[in-house]
Amino acid sequence: MKQFRTHSKVHLKSPGCWINDPNGFIYFQGNYHLFYQYFPYGNYWGRMHWGHAVSKDLVHWEHLPVALYPSKPEDCDGCFSGSAVVHDNCLHLFYTGVRYTDPDPEDINQYQNAGFLASQMKITSKDGFHFDNRADKTVVIPTLEGEFPARETRDPRVWRGSDAWYMMLGSSLGKKGCFLFYRSYDLENWQYINCVEGPDAWGKVWECPDYFTVDGKQVLLFSPTNLPEMGNQNVCMQVFLQEDGCKLKLGDTFTLIDYGMDVYAAQSAEDAMGNRVMVAWLRMPGPVEDEWIGMFTIPRVVEVKENHICFRPHPLVKQAFTRRLQDLSGADDGGCYLTLDIMEGETISIGRYEISRQGNRICTDRSHVYGNYEGQCRFLSPECSGGLDPISLEIFVDKNLIEVFINEGEYVISNVVYDLTTDIIDPGKHGLVLWGTP
Ligand code: FRU
Repeated sequence: MKQFRTHSKVHLKSPGCWINDPNGFIYFQGNYHLFYQYFPYGNYWGRMHWGHAVSKDLVHWEHLPVALYPSKPEDCDGCFSGSAVVHDNCLHLFYTGVRYTDPDPEDINQYQNAGFLASQMKITSKDGFHFDNRADKTVVIPTLEGEFPARETRDPRVWRGSDAWYMMLGSSLGKKGCFLFYRSYDLENWQYINCVEGPDAWGKVWECPDYFTVDGKQVLLFSPTNLPEMGNQNVCMQVFLQEDGCKLKLGDTFTLIDYGMDVYAAQSAEDAMGNRVMVAWLRMPGPVEDEWIGMFTIPRVVEVKENHICFRPHPLVKQAFTRRLQDLSGADDGGCYLTLDIMEGETISIGRYEISRQGNRICTDRSHVYGNYEGQCRFLSPECSGGLDPISLEIFVDKNLIEVFINEGEYVISNVVYDLTTDIIDPGKHGLVLWGTP
């Protein structure tokens, strides 16, 4: 097992090897716990474990030993994504146990073809730090038989409803994505209630559902696969769930949670102040220094303003940037933060990553800072509100990630980058001030 990072600051990054989705994000007994999909033996996806990090302030993360690892026949080939709830002062983690039916003969950590079965499992912990993978795991929903695919049903999202516990699973029916809903009164026994499908063009499998209420509005985040022209993307919409019968009324359309197209599998939790906070995985085309691959966005506060779902930087993250920097080279591993108001036609280059305003849209261009990787380099936000007014930008710069928050989270563009330089070119002379963490 290779681990070279014991702490992460601002952006949670892989401690070494591969990470993907955030899992089990929760505030419990005074700590934020953030688990994640983790393959501890190489810088590529393989038999999944749950890595674990904790933080007191959503800024400084300490990497802890692996929390969940394959230990039962039902999860012998992986502990896939899932969520956390607190009940009776215990932490309950729900996840998808995976068993390969067709392992790759060249590498038993991989499967081939459609070769795995999924079941939904639970593990409990009294303190959030100790997980007994032998004694405290149970299968709560065995591998499905019948119309829903035994393989594509996963990523349990559990929450407390008004009268019971509810679980939502991502799944697929025919060639369309769908959600399966279950109800429980004791977190142990789950009864199937309903299946909800969307239109044909909304992807093949719906992964990583997340559902919550914020500002009195019900919000759904999910990650559909195989969207026409967009592939796998993380989207959001307002919904209406009738608990009785689990009838979910979906919106007419969805929007991207981030216009940089690298973000996936977002998961939210309520913070100590009562904000709804979300983090998401950034998909990287290749490892950094052969050592690690995968990181998360900064925690973002989710709000619904005038029926629009916004994602603004968490105030604790902004407050962490108190050290004035001369230039980008003064930043440490917390990176750098700057703000600016951008007018029509202006462009600024941060380490050769370009941000410009075209009409009422913000464009980013990473073509000079994407190494030798192939992939999309130019991105465009939708039309922002505010007419000819300046558009306000809050920008977080890290060696391998730039996050641009537009108009306090009306839209966000986040891009993975590889070889930023340290120069800033600002022809509009905005008098930029750069901030680092102490
Ligand atoms: C999303 C996903 C989940 C699954 C996990 C496996 O990125 O495919 O649906 O649980 O990753 O690592």
